[in-house]
Amino acid sequence: MPANNTRLMAVANEKGGVGKTAMVVNLGAAMAITGKKVLIVDMDPQHNATSGLGVKVSDDMVNVYNLISEPADHSSLDAIVETSWENIHLLPSHPDLSGAEVELVEEDGRENRLKEAVADVINNYDFVIIDTPPSLSLLTINVFALAREVLVPCQTHPYAYGALEALFDTIEAVKEDINPDIAVAGIVPTFFDGRTRVGRDILDRLQSDKRYRDYTFATPIRVNTDIAASSDAGKPVVFYKKSCNGTHDYMAVAAELARRDGKKKKK
Ligand SMILES: Nc1ncnc2c1ncn2[C@@H]1O[C@H](COP(=O)(O)OP(=O)(O)OP(=O)(O)O)[C@@H](O)[C@H]1O
Ligand SMILES: [Mg+2]
Repeated sequence: MPANNTRLMAVANEKGGVGKTAMVVNLGAAMAITGKKVLIVDMDPQHNATSGLGVKVSDDMVNVYNLISEPADHSSLDAIVETSWENIHLLPSHPDLSGAEVELVEEDGRENRLKEAVADVINNYDFVIIDTPPSLSLLTINVFALAREVLVPCQTHPYAYGALEALFDTIEAVKEDINPDIAVAGIVPTFFDGRTRVGRDILDRLQSDKRYRDYTFATPIRVNTDIAASSDAGKPVVFYKKSCNGTHDYMAVAAELARRDGKKKKK
């Protein structure tokens, strides 16, 4: 447990393409604008958070794969890079990270590699926001071993809604077996389109179902092409276009997150 009040936050959902990386990058940037010091950790070999923050993946750069595969040879201080924006630092990913699961299969304590790697730096930040791959792999387990809060982006679509129960069960199992300090911090509805009946219906279910309503953020992230365009440009949307739905929604989610404490909510 960190000595100060650093919030250690995983953004996770085993479903692919629900807006995890967009949330990591854009929420991180929205928190940074409000003066918080943010470290973004990219634990996905797809390295979309790294590129989304305008950092080019390179073999010459120490990255999170080096930290977890050869911990004795690298320090997190060598791996963390400054981005183009104040208050946002990045621990970058690398495609080699996809091999980590197989490489570490015989290693004791392999699920704690990330936690150990960043232990000496997390107290420098108000928020550590960690991107995860769309699977419950050793990489995601390493993130869950470190995190105290899990933020769940849920696409306002029936399949994503249906998958929530399994995700909550997974987090309960992690809490029992690996990290008693972990809790769901919230569900953020994503890709919301209020013009469609299905979008309105799923949002309504998230806000009314007793399993989920206390967790569900008041602000859904609307479908907004500026979000996709900003990731392509390697910039968080809040810096890409000051006035658009994406910027508005992520600033509102950041404000709600600052007010919420995931540990108060019980399933
Ligand atoms: N609210 C939104 N409106 C429009 N496009 C979005 C929105 N949120 C994310 N996107 C875009 O949709 C795509 C998928 O989003 P993202 O990469 O964040 O999902 P993910 O859950 O991280 O995917 P994966 O599971 O592959 O890691 C990206 O191209 C992203 O830029
Ligand atoms: Mg992603």
